[in-house]
Amino acid sequence: MYATMRAWLGKNIRWIAHVSALAPLVLLGFDALTDTLGANPIQEITLRTGKTALLLLISSLACTPFNTVFGFPPIIKVRRELGLYAFLYVCVHFLIFALIDYGLDTDLVYEAIFEKPYALVGFTALVLLLPLAVTSTKAWQKRLRKKWKSLHKLAYVVTGLAVVHYVWLVKSDYREPLAWGALVVVLLILRLSPVKRSILMVRSRIRTRRAQTVRSSLATSVVKSQN
Ligand code: HEM
Repeated sequence: MYATMRAWLGKNIRWIAHVSALAPLVLLGFDALTDTLGANPIQEITLRTGKTALLLLISSLACTPFNTVFGFPPIIKVRRELGLYAFLYVCVHFLIFALIDYGLDTDLVYEAIFEKPYALVGFTALVLLLPLAVTSTKAWQKRLRKKWKSLHKLAYVVTGLAVVHYVWLVKSDYREPLAWGALVVVLLILRLSPVKRSILMVRSRIRTRRAQTVRSSLATSVVKSQN
């Protein structure tokens, strides 16, 4: 049962990722069309796109550690897509800020970004995300080789800045942004070589023990059937 579910998930992971990443956008469109975004629709769109962007950034970062801990390589296939969807949501988030709040007046947008520290931090995250989105293709990966990996480590900086941006915006209850921050730290720790090595060692021990158990129960049933 577990193996069948795992195989099914592995086979269908791509479309599951696309549907899950697009669902908040579709829902947002639906709520906008049916006028059910609440008393302050612009704020609602900003909050929803910001939160979805953060969730997708963290999900993209979680793919590699998830594979390390649970040994599920198909998840690596959706890392790029999740990152690109995060970029899409951040762009919508920023466009709402620049277009609706400041009528796309570059001087006003520039002033607002440098006046409000939370906006500056968010904008830095957006700017850093741009080269990651552009170089996310296989061709760029080949062209940049080792540099590609170093460049894409910036995803942690981007997510860290996004968490700071969130903490800065919250007025009283810091629990949610801090919980996201703690998760980013855990994901970062899971990527450290000694931690990764220990996890892989534990997994290999579990596998060996499981194989031994299967072998001994097979041997017992063979002996029983011979008697
Ligand atoms: C990686 C980039 C970014 C991420 C992940 C992100 C994420 C978020 C999140 C999670 C919130 C919700 C905070 C809450 O619930 O109180 C938020 C709110 C907000 N963000 Fe961003 N953000 C990013 C970039 C930006 C940029 C570039 C700007 C504009 C310069 C911006 C402007 C805002 C504003 C104005 C709000 C508050 C909306 C309100 O309370 O009315 N964000 N963002």
